[in-house]
Amino acid sequence: MVVDDERSMREFLAIMLGKNGYRVETVARGEEALERIGRSLFDLVITDLSMPGMDGLEVLKRVKDVSPTTAVVLITAYATTESAVEAMKLGAFDYVIKPFKVDELNIIIRNALEKRRLLDENRLLRRELVSRFGFSNLVGHSPAMLAVYDMIRKVQDTHTNVLITGESGTGKELVARAIHYNGTRKDFPFVAVNCGAIPENLIESELFGHKRGAFTGAVTSKPGLFQTAEGGTVLLDEIAEMPINTQVKLLRALQERTFKNLGGVEDIHVNVRVIAATNRDLAEEVRCGRFREDLYYRLNVIQIHLPPLRERMEDLPLLADHFLSKFIAEYQKPLTGIHADAMRVLMSHDYPGNVRELANILERAVALEPGDEIRLSSLPPNLVSSGDTASSRMTFEFPEEGIDLDAALAALERQFLLQALERSGGVKKRAAELLRISFRSMRYRLDKHGIEAGDDDTSA
Ligand SMILES: Nc1ncnc2c1ncn2[C@@H]1O[C@H](COP(=O)(O)OP(=O)(O)OP(=O)(O)O)[C@@H](O)[C@H]1O
Ligand SMILES: [Mg+2]
Repeated sequence: MVVDDERSMREFLAIMLGKNGYRVETVARGEEALERIGRSLFDLVITDLSMPGMDGLEVLKRVKDVSPTTAVVLITAYATTESAVEAMKLGAFDYVIKPFKVDELNIIIRNALEKRRLLDENRLLRRELVSRFGFSNLVGHSPAMLAVYDMIRKVQDTHTNVLITGESGTGKELVARAIHYNGTRKDFPFVAVNCGAIPENLIESELFGHKRGAFTGAVTSKPGLFQTAEGGTVLLDEIAEMPINTQVKLLRALQERTFKNLGGVEDIHVNVRVIAATNRDLAEEVRCGRFREDLYYRLNVIQIHLPPLRERMEDLPLLADHFLSKFIAEYQKPLTGIHADAMRVLMSHDYPGNVRELANILERAVALEPGDEIRLSSLPPNLVSSGDTASSRMTFEFPEEGIDLDAALAALERQFLLQALERSGGVKKRAAELLRISFRSMRYRLDKHGIEAGDDDTSA
């Protein structure tokens, strides 16, 4: 789309672009440009900078608001560096000064469209990767995840109970949903209940329902989750938190396939598949007497274990791509990918919060990143400082007999000071920069170690 108040310019550009095989629309006013952009998708907007009414910078800003991936090129006769800088800051692809050479504008247009094409291609590739190496909404192609997909396929059409284990944030709920939505029960409800989040005195009525007057406060009857989920799946999340008394009732319901509402008399038939999930070691809970052994065996007919992310780091690039496309779409940001430095830091973190932590890191990065790639500066500071820096890679053989820490650090400091001075050709100010310390601190440390380093060269 060409936006210019000057008719001759509109006509010239329309002819030139048309000759090069582009489809062109021309408008005389910024307001009209925005109206059309709201209605259909444009790859490129070429706009004059100074126009009556809405000017080119305003057009640029508003186009980026509604259509962030549309490239914008500004044209102006009144070139000022400020407006050029302003335009680039607002996300213009480039800036052309009138009078311009046709070839010059052509190259800019070609580059702008090429970049846009790459953005689209990236997005498509990413989507394809995810569908090729994922299962339902699960992403990952590590042997561990492939084994998980296998297990899901094996159990999805059966009625057996499944126990899903794994640290927090490893995707236990996602696996439970995959089992439900790929299986024969998919047209019936999937109901998840977090046993750790419901007060102890309410959990039974939540699961099994109650009749009016069953307890103080039960002013109406209410069906339990096992009734709500009839025909479908119940996910008992954080099962280790279930009170012992409730465990007894749950066991009976699972064994006899019937239960009663609290305060009710008639037996209600249960036709639900039960999936339980926990981030605890349930066998250990059994040993400690906090979890009933008979219920444990009843729930643990088939176990699916999700290993922590740090043990399957080969999944990280795919997961990162997956979350990147998701958040790019959500935040409408024209990002092409993750810079190699940032990727290195992401790969060297050990993710105590697992996949959920990675997702949060990437959401933050997409929201903060001003450029077209996720860079180090958009990652959380604690990640970057603990990441793969030269200092964190330094290793040292610890002596059998132990070490005098202060003396060892002093010796190390002395060596670093000397090496930095050597690298800087004796220029103290430069050496201080190499060591990321102030000039004052440099002088103090040189004094401390009695290192002679010529005159102070503050002027250098
Ligand atoms: N393999 C995966 N592929 C894509 N997204 C994943 C994967 N694993 C986890 N996630 C995402 O990570 C987040 C956490 O997953 P989920 O809630 O399933 O974890 P969880 O194991 O149930 O954690 P918690 O024990 O804390 O409840 C969700 O946003 C989920 O979509
Ligand atoms: Mg969960």
